This record gives sequence, structure tokens and C-alpha cells, in this order.
Amino acid sequence: MKGNKTLMTVAMVSMALAANAAQIKVETGDVSLIMDGEPGGALNLCYFGEKLANTSEFAYAWHITQPDTQDEYGRQLYPAYGGRFFLNPALKLTHADGVMTTELVYRSHEQKAIDANRTETVVHLQDKIYDARVDLRFVAYNDEDVITQSVIFSHGEKGEVTVENIASSYITLKAHDYYLTHFHGTWAREMQLTEEKLTPGVKVVESKKGVRTAQSDNSAFLLSLDAPASEYSGDVYAGALAWTGNYKMQFEVDEAGLLHIVGGINPFASAISLSAGEELVTPEMVLTYSNNGRSEVTHNLHDWARRYNLAHGDEVRPVVLNSWEGAYFDFDEKVITDMIDDAAAFGVEMFVLDDGWFGNKFPRNGDNAGLGDWQVNKKKLPQGIGYLADYAVSKGMKFGIWIEPEMVNPDSELARRHPEWIVQSGKRDLLPMRNQHLLDLSNPEVQDFVFETFDNVLKMSPNISYVKWDANRHADNVGSTYLAADEQGRFWYDYICGLYNVYERIRAKYPDVLIQLCSSGGGRVDFGALKYHDEFWASDNTNALDRLKIQYSENIFFPAMATAAHVSTSPNHQTGMMLPLKFRFDVAMMGRLGMELQPKQLEGDERTFALNAIELYKELRPVIQLGDLYRIDSPYDEDGYCSDVYVSKDRREAVVFAFSTTYHNRTQSYDIKLHGLDPAKNYLLKEVNTPDGGSWYPGNGKVYSGEFLMKAGLSLPIGGAFTSMVLHLTEQ
Ligand code: GLA
Repeated sequence: MKGNKTLMTVAMVSMALAANAAQIKVETGDVSLIMDGEPGGALNLCYFGEKLANTSEFAYAWHITQPDTQDEYGRQLYPAYGGRFFLNPALKLTHADGVMTTELVYRSHEQKAIDANRTETVVHLQDKIYDARVDLRFVAYNDEDVITQSVIFSHGEKGEVTVENIASSYITLKAHDYYLTHFHGTWAREMQLTEEKLTPGVKVVESKKGVRTAQSDNSAFLLSLDAPASEYSGDVYAGALAWTGNYKMQFEVDEAGLLHIVGGINPFASAISLSAGEELVTPEMVLTYSNNGRSEVTHNLHDWARRYNLAHGDEVRPVVLNSWEGAYFDFDEKVITDMIDDAAAFGVEMFVLDDGWFGNKFPRNGDNAGLGDWQVNKKKLPQGIGYLADYAVSKGMKFGIWIEPEMVNPDSELARRHPEWIVQSGKRDLLPMRNQHLLDLSNPEVQDFVFETFDNVLKMSPNISYVKWDANRHADNVGSTYLAADEQGRFWYDYICGLYNVYERIRAKYPDVLIQLCSSGGGRVDFGALKYHDEFWASDNTNALDRLKIQYSENIFFPAMATAAHVSTSPNHQTGMMLPLKFRFDVAMMGRLGMELQPKQLEGDERTFALNAIELYKELRPVIQLGDLYRIDSPYDEDGYCSDVYVSKDRREAVVFAFSTTYHNRTQSYDIKLHGLDPAKNYLLKEVNTPDGGSWYPGNGKVYSGEFLMKAGLSLPIGGAFTSMVLHLTEQ
């Protein structure tokens, strides 16, 4: 916001507050969320946007569109189904006596500082008649301009209350037009950005997959007012549900032109009955806002995640070689120790042994057997995992290993031992996917098994310092042998609570281990899971051209340092496409660099290039991983160019990545203006990551002011298909 004039984002009329009404402010450094509540009356959202300097002078209230009908639907901050409310509500209950309506009123609120940066606000709501209580919990992160909201429901009724729908947040905005950016996809093509103007009615983005819920659509969204979202101007809101299970985000433009954003757990087949005193807690909705466009939204979320929602968010990540695409299931000890030798020679810092290392009676030599039997395959690896981990360490590297502990192949000892642990729907057929079934994490015994799997794997060697945690199917024909007949609706919710319970136990015991979040690639890219992990595998698609789009979208919300991006072989295994090694490295260097290939295959010039690129990345990574990402030009534009610049927090260093993804006219250059630099500083420009270490670029070795680079900009001589440049700027 930082300098720009306040834009009123809601239709408001100024009204005097009733004498006993409370104005509740949830505020960060630059954002205000203002509510008012009168004991016994509705809790209203007054304002959400750029910080207001003087809220005490005003009492804001929503414009009431039809006062004669007392229709207050546009004002409520957390509307329940009941009273005159007729839009999609935030809450829908059936009370113990069968009454289906709820009318929430404000009771009280409290606010306290958690620490110097965080303030917690809890607003207590209650039904007008029933002892049904809703607490809205907000945490405001001052420096990062992030506000999280979650909801806690409980009741004191005689009998069970059934919660059929409980959103994490409900936000109402008012503008002429609303532009929604959301992200759809599939396996190997996750998070494809789409922006659309919302029209009257309801737009729904949701997942009902239970697992891999970010694969087809992501819960993260951008909402821009009055114009499509641009990078450096305009009102942009962002939301992301911190939840690894089913979610539903609804964007409803009502008859008065207001936009209501209702987001939370997907109510689909998820009615949950609660006895008196039991609590139901929703996941957090992570919200931020900027009137300087979506770049600032990204900075807010990256800073917030690195500080609060990512393991080891302030430590640079190692360069990884992952064995999957280099060896698949086809390896023995020699293949792996050779890979470790080669990786060490490339300056790789972490070797990760992927799928295929376990199972004896049902050896894991393909994806059709062995899942669940987490004992080392003695035939393939006679000296065990400890030997390989020690071997990596003796070569100056760290060692990591792959697991997929929530799953079981029918061909496994586990499936024979515990058929009741498999997610199942009565007597219906089990439907395998990738030849495997899902274990029922709503069952505490399964939670123990999954925890123990992780624990036992780590016990194989003190030299295991990284785990890649995979999950390669979603849930269908769901049901649980553990949950009672009348509790089956809890399955989706309890599965994820069970998963988080295991994550918590693992993190309590293994705070230092690096854990990668993988789910057939980017199937679990959400803040709920990311909190327990160091990084996510952005996609099983390692084709650099596709990665440009996937990583671009993921990095709008999720930090570059957490984006595992690996250079793989050419032709690419997923797409068959051939791309220059430099192009592949340049794309992977925009995230957490790694390799996903048989390093022996890199020979001659390619080998030298890779060696130098890895060394260079180590020099650049503090800027890429811990700095600010400024987008210059999107890979979703049709012009066949795209670029980003990463700038260190102290503005003394920057790294520019620029790509030409198609053939342009010979005479054409790629003109870009940088962002985020200090206009008063002078920067030495060096083109880096070139095949011969030199540069033909006339700007190479010259000193430019930040002002020049941002206002006049650079003309880059790239235009051939799949050509790219990396520029390193250092303050002089
Ligand atoms: C998933 C992962 C891959 C790899 C395989 C192994 O597809 O996304 O990276 O680990 O499983 O089976």
C-alpha cells in the first residue's frame, strides 16, 4: 500500500454505533479488518483493506440494500443459515432438537498480543436461542500484513448438534468488477493460472479428492477489484486455505453486486455430530491484501511463510540429487553408490534415494508391490540403508530417503496383516489407483503406524537427514472401519487431523530433519501441510518449459526456497521434449535447485556446465531463497518471453532470470525493466551461467544505477527458441 491513496473497497454509509456496540479492529502494519458488534446483535464486517488511520473517528457499516425487509445479509461477518440470510452461508447446523436454523449474535471479544509481531483476536458469537457457540479467531501478523482466520464451534445442547457446513472465513467486498485468479491442473501440469471476471452467481473452486487436493485445483486465489490483477498497482486480495483435505471456495456475486467469498473445509459428505462440550476447529484461512498489486501480496505471503509456516524458513536449502528419474526402481547398491560418487563430484550436497528400496516378500521393484513393508530390500541393498547413508556422508554429502507411509499395495505383508486399515466403503470393491490403497488415518492405530514408519526409517541411520514424503493416490469409495456407523461423515476431516497429528509427532521428535512434501508432484501444495515441511516437489513434470508456468503460479503464494526444481535429462521423460541444458538449469535455479537424472550421462561440455552451474547457484541462492521475488513478465503471456528478478532484503544484490520460449524475429531484443532495486545504488551487471563462462552481452561488466535499471531497463539479446539469460547484479 505503502504510499498509495486509500481506496474504499466496500459500499459504506456512516452510522453512529449504538452506545454499547464494540468496534473490533484486526490490524497489521498496512491492513485493517474492521468489525462492529452490539451484544445481542449481528457481527458486521465494516471494512477490509488498506489500513485506516483513524477508525475511532468513524463507525462504518455496510450499506443495507433493502432496509424495508430488514435484509442484512450483506453485512454479517460470519453468517449462519437462519433468519433472513439466503446466500451460501458460512455455517449450517442442525440443532439437537432438529431445528435447522441458526442466528448468530455477538457476545464479546478479547484481544491480546502473542508477541511483538502477532495479535490474537477472538470474537465470541452465540445463537440467539440455543447454546451453540462460534468463536472466530484472527491472528494478525504486523510486519507481513497477513491475517489468518479460523473458527471454533462448540455447544451445550442436550443431545448432538450436527455441523453440516463450517467455513473458515467469509469475506464481503464491494466493487464494480471482480477478477478472480485461480489455479487448475492435473498430474504433471499443476497450478495453471486462470483469471476471470466474476459474473452474478456462484463460482466454485473445490476439491473432493481427500488426498492430492491441490492437484486439480488449488485453494489459493487472488481477487482483484475493478481490473485484472497487475503486478505493481491495484487492489489485490489473496487467500489460501491451510488445509490438506477437501476444500471449497465459493465466490458469489449477489443481486446487490456484492462479492461474498466463503472458504473452508468442503462440506461434501462431511456432516459431523458433536456432543455438548466437544469442539470442532476449522483450518486457518490465510489472507493478505495490497493496493500495490500482486507482487506485494507475494512478498507478504513469502515473508509470512518463511517466518511462521515453513520448516527452517531462514536457512538456505542444499542442492539435491534425487534418484528417481536417474534409476527409477532399477538399482542395486553399486548403482546407488556410483550415483553418490557422481553427485559428490558435481558438488551436490544431498543425495536422495527415491522409491524402490524396500519390501522383501513383496519387493518394491515396480509400483505394484511392497508399499507398506518399510524394511530394506536385502537383495537390492544387502548392507542396508545405514551403509548408503554413511557412504554419502563419507563423500561429504547428506543422505535422504523416500517414503509413502499412508499407502499400501494389495501385494504387501501389511495389506494381509491389516485389511481393516484400508479406507473402504462397506462391502464395495476397493478401487486401486497406481495399484495401491489408502490407509485410514482417522484410525489412531494407523496414525501410530505412520509415525512409527517414519521413526523406524530414521532409526536405520543417524545419517538420514532428509525425507521425501509422498502420497500417490486420492480417496474414493471412502469410509472407515474404525469410525462408527453414524460417524462416517467425519472421515474426510479426521483423516487430515490424523495426518497433522502424525506430522506434529514427527516434528516434535525430528525438528532438524528436512522433509519434502510430495504428492505425485504438487498434489499437496498448501499451507496446512507446508508448515511441517521444508519444501514441496513442484511437479512430476520436470520439463523446464512447463515448469516455468507451474513454478510461476506456485511462487505467487509459496516461497521459491520451498520449490524443489530439478534439472532432468533430455529428451524429457514426461514430455519427450528436448531443451538446452542451460535453459533447464536456469529454470531450476529459480527455486531450490536439484538434479533428477543419472549424473553419468552428463559428459564433456555438459558436465562442465552443470558443475559450474551448481557452484554458481550456491553463490546466488541466498538471494533466490531468502530475498524478494519480483515478477517482471509472465510465462502465461502470449509473447514467448518471461522474466523474474530476485532481490536481497538489503537491496545490495539481485539475480535476473529471462527466458525466450519461442522463436522471435532476429532483430528483436527482449526489453525489460527491473523492480525492487534501490534507485540510488549502483550495480555491477554480470551475465552468469553461460556455456563458456563468457558473455556477448554488451551490458556485461557495466555498472548501472538502480534507477536506470528500473526506469530505462535492459535490452536482452535473447529471441531464439529456448534461449535464456541470468544476470547477477551486485552493489558497487
Ligand atoms: C511420485 C513422485 C515421484 C517419485 C515417484 C516414485 O510420482 O512424485 O517424484 O517419487 O512417486 O514412485
